[in-house]
Amino acid sequence: MTPLRFTPIGSFFELANDDLVRDVAEIPWQQPDTSLAYLQSGQQALRACASYLSEVEGRDIVVVPEFACDSMLAPFPQAEWTLVSFPVDASLRPDTHALSTIISQHERCVVLTMAYFGAAPDSEHIATLQILQAKGARVIEDETHRVLTASTRPIGDVAVASLRKTIPVPDGAYLRGVLAPAILEHSAPEGPRSHPGWEAMEAKSAGDLERAGELFTQSDRALSQLEPALLSPRTLEALSRLSHRQLANRRTSNAEALRSALPVNHEILVEASVPSHLPLRVDEPRAMQQALAKQAIYCPIHWPRPPRLAEASFPCDLISLPIDHRYNRADMSRIGTAVRELVNA
Ligand SMILES: Cc1ncc(COP(=O)(O)O)c(C=O)c1O
Repeated sequence: MTPLRFTPIGSFFELANDDLVRDVAEIPWQQPDTSLAYLQSGQQALRACASYLSEVEGRDIVVVPEFACDSMLAPFPQAEWTLVSFPVDASLRPDTHALSTIISQHERCVVLTMAYFGAAPDSEHIATLQILQAKGARVIEDETHRVLTASTRPIGDVAVASLRKTIPVPDGAYLRGVLAPAILEHSAPEGPRSHPGWEAMEAKSAGDLERAGELFTQSDRALSQLEPALLSPRTLEALSRLSHRQLANRRTSNAEALRSALPVNHEILVEASVPSHLPLRVDEPRAMQQALAKQAIYCPIHWPRPPRLAEASFPCDLISLPIDHRYNRADMSRIGTAVRELVNA
């Protein structure tokens, strides 16, 4: 193992420390009056929705935001689905007027929407989707960035979320809402398919970063299979014992700390009570990502532009700073200082 000059910040999760584990914990997205089902990955959950809406309801047009990742689009393959996109504004909110215009031109389509980086969908977003549903569109809401605040009823016909982006588990996605039971039944998922995601987290906790990286890549590859499979029992058990409240509180306080450590004129892109990341608008996100990586601060870019959105007005100037449960005020200050130095360089 190579000795590290800096403690790494960011990248995939290691195991949660004991102070985040409880005997029983409340799961925010699990609500008494809302159907809930789990699959192995977000892509599989979206694939299950797509298959149901195509095979049972005969739909073949999917309307997606111009800011989306390949993993959101792959479950709607080009051979089966026509993709139409609608713009998002500078704060990444859907352009509801454009969305309504598109729906009025296409009957029986499927709309995929999302509120980004932990923001809650605003009243206009919600009202527009209700109107589109009344006109015959089906609505899937991707809650991946806001699972820790997904405590209200889902909007749309079904909400899906990949869990491993914000919660220290290596796999898993939920589907919730009125259509979830029918979608799950139609998808007839296999039993849990094996992948070395938990081993990757264990290796990372043990400090063996090289092996952790290899196992993570293998696991990621296995999870990118679209054929639905069930969630691993170990993940299900972990979800019922993690303190989601603590995970949320740490994100909130880290985001606050990081905001005060960033350059004074940085743009606050989205307002979120529990952010998934702190997105920054910068001139050269790749260059900043590489420069921060030299200081062992690993930041994702949400997202590389998917080829199917080549013509869309896709925001290419974002970098996402980590603020998750693993970190504290001192870590946020380290990120803030590094970003300030790069911005002022
Ligand atoms: C918003 C969003 N939805 C869905 C997915 C797919 O999730 P998974 O990686 O669990 O397949 C991703 C993955 O990056 C995502 O970012």
